[in-house]
Amino acid sequence: MRYGLFSDVHGNLEALQAVLGVLKREDVDNYICLGDIIGYGASPRECIKLIKDLNPIVIAGNHDYAAVHLTDISYFNTYAKEVILWTQNQLQDEDREYLTGLKLVHNLPDFTLVHATLRRPEKWNYIFSTYDAQQNFQMLTTSLLFIGHSHVPIIFEENTPCRYYFKETVKFEEGRKYIINIGSVGQPRDGDPRASFALYDTESRIIQIKRVEYDVTGAMRKIAEAGLSKVLAWRLSRGE
Ligand SMILES: [Fe+2]
Repeated sequence: MRYGLFSDVHGNLEALQAVLGVLKREDVDNYICLGDIIGYGASPRECIKLIKDLNPIVIAGNHDYAAVHLTDISYFNTYAKEVILWTQNQLQDEDREYLTGLKLVHNLPDFTLVHATLRRPEKWNYIFSTYDAQQNFQMLTTSLLFIGHSHVPIIFEENTPCRYYFKETVKFEEGRKYIINIGSVGQPRDGDPRASFALYDTESRIIQIKRVEYDVTGAMRKIAEAGLSKVLAWRLSRGE
């Protein structure tokens, strides 16, 4: 089975279209979205619709839940809060119903999906260090955990000692656990403005974390036209 995985689209239609264009050419069997479909970008409804049409496995991100009042936004920064309030006004009932129905964790026979962490996923903590990773490895009942949330692609490997690294292509070894952050489609934060996503082949156990250029200027223009903060547009051009 070949999976196309993407995360943290954040209402960036231009980036999502570019990623789906590549994944379609790669002939994937199934799609997986690791949450945060909306928030930050100016095309929340269009992104929800496009993702729905793929009939993927989708889990909830903090922004998805925030848009439908399922999580507290008092800890959101000023810009994130501003966009969530704007997004709440854009969404229609069918969008709210879709976001409300998303679950925090999804278990497949061979791997597990969560937006933030397995340890109290509703707290939206981050896996930044090997210490964070080890706590999650203890709770992981499969060998692979795919995550998003930080917008920075990285791989944690349970080894002696636990280590982390980034490689575009990784073959997972049998009997070893991994946590794979596949980066963000719509708001990368690793200094590379190109949209990040992944392809996973369950037979070969090979993951490829890929990047694709998209119409950043178009996404920035829509943010400006929606009257949202200039900072949100500017950071897209920098991958910050
Ligand atoms: Fe996010």
